[in-house]
Amino acid sequence: MSADTWWRNGIVYQIYPRSFQDSDGDGIGDLDGIRARLDHLVSLGIDAVWISPIYPSPMVDFGYDIADFCDIDPRFGTLDSFDALVGDAHSRGLKVILDFVPNHTSDQHPWFVQSRSARSDPRRDWYLWRDPARDGGPPNNWVSNFGGPAWTFDPATGQYYAHSFLKQQPDLNWRNPEVRAAMYEVLRFWLRRGVDGFRVDVLSQIIKDAQFRDNPPNPDFMDGHDPFFRWLMLHNTDLPEVHQIVAEMRRVVDAFGDERSSRVLIGELYLPLPRLVAYYGLNAEGVLEGVQLPFNFQLIDTEWQAARIDRLVRDYEAALPAGAAPNWVLGNHDKSRIASRVGLRMARLAAMLLLTLRGTPTLYYGDEIGMTDVPIPIDEVQDPFEKNKPGMGLGRDPVRTPMPWSAEPHAGFTTGTPWLRLSDDWRTRNVDEQSRDAESMLALYRRLIALRRAQPALNGGDYEALEAEGEVLAYARKLEGQRLVVLLNFGATPVPISPALMPRQPVVLASTDPARGEFIEGPLMLAPCEGVVVGTVTDESPPHTLPVGIST
Ligand code: GLC
Ligand code: MG
Repeated sequence: MSADTWWRNGIVYQIYPRSFQDSDGDGIGDLDGIRARLDHLVSLGIDAVWISPIYPSPMVDFGYDIADFCDIDPRFGTLDSFDALVGDAHSRGLKVILDFVPNHTSDQHPWFVQSRSARSDPRRDWYLWRDPARDGGPPNNWVSNFGGPAWTFDPATGQYYAHSFLKQQPDLNWRNPEVRAAMYEVLRFWLRRGVDGFRVDVLSQIIKDAQFRDNPPNPDFMDGHDPFFRWLMLHNTDLPEVHQIVAEMRRVVDAFGDERSSRVLIGELYLPLPRLVAYYGLNAEGVLEGVQLPFNFQLIDTEWQAARIDRLVRDYEAALPAGAAPNWVLGNHDKSRIASRVGLRMARLAAMLLLTLRGTPTLYYGDEIGMTDVPIPIDEVQDPFEKNKPGMGLGRDPVRTPMPWSAEPHAGFTTGTPWLRLSDDWRTRNVDEQSRDAESMLALYRRLIALRRAQPALNGGDYEALEAEGEVLAYARKLEGQRLVVLLNFGATPVPISPALMPRQPVVLASTDPARGEFIEGPLMLAPCEGVVVGTVTDESPPHTLPVGIST
């Protein structure tokens, strides 16, 4: 029997649980809220939800500071409400992926409380404790991702502890076998409850240099840059030893699948391409023993330009080891939303790109209705990243605002006061409104996802790069004689498409432009910002039975 590899092309939808749906009026989204909104996810057509952390937490980093890995924060619900959510999701054909945060715990986690209690405590070595440098300062020059040194002095025991993020997020010591065993038990705890996989937080940073050497200076650093980039993170990121740990995690997860690989590991990895694809874990026998999906964030970081994206897709495809599953991400809870990065019109094109490239797409909640970053006034800022480095535009609150569902009070998100303000346009930009509008972003997303399901070449076909004129990105997707062509105009002027690029007997299967019909008379002229998927009229499926434009 072949392995159940749903994650090879299934669509992952990220839920930021604080902001999806509140069920109890406290203004904070919760698990019962998510359960009440499964209809939306089913009608959108996604395959899996990834839920950002829901564990007990002081919420200093909104759940990425975990005080108990094996329970649910009361603000989100209980283990019973979690089981109910998994049960309902599964019965509706949706997979559930949790966030696994192995790099650090909360400083309130009992492990850390014990660890800091005495140098002789058996849990002392579960975290990274070091003596001060000779001048009494931090043991080395490592800096925190959230600003300042990656070390905090603990007067009670006279040593510093390491934290890659906030001082309330002490780093675990992954060189300690007891830590590994305890963290693998955490995976098993949730696997036994039926979860379908994990998104693994800051995977590249979990193991640090055994000798705690200083990082070397970054030769490209210039005054005025964020001091975070002053040093190259040579000794605290992407060490060779990390791959052994990843392989161990994979074995834990595989042991729970009915077949190898039915549960998935997705790594959060912001790394250059060759180092990124190393996380597939190609071993000497040609087996991929790493994470199935090392998150590919290139569409988030790239300049939004056809030639750039063409290059990066080709390079990525070429860099994948044999058998590796590609994946693409347009946004997440840490990055500016796609509609704000490229504009609303271009965001339609981005949706088509995401859903027609080869591999697993990941959507961020709200992008399906074109949510934009919401400016948060200074006195409402919640994100510690912003509070630590004010005025640098690093705050992530703008991309974490509550999901607008309807024109009801507070957009149907809560009956109480939302923990973070809504966007200004929620009365018109919400799920209800867009469900009624055949030209909306939501209609486009539904349409494209349905097309992807209906067309095997889009779902699992090969990718073939094509050469196009001007600002047009062109590629084909092919499977067993079926060939679809995707044409995306990134430019501000109309572009005629050479007939040589078109499939025979072409028919438009989808367009970002609601006005486009299925038939092409004469040469195809792509409007500015327009994207189309073109197929071939076949005997079995005459054009009028094929899905047309986005208005169906
Ligand atoms: C990851 C998360 C981010 C969090 C950080 C620390 O980068 O995506 O939201 O703040 O890890 O856990
Ligand atoms: Mg609530």
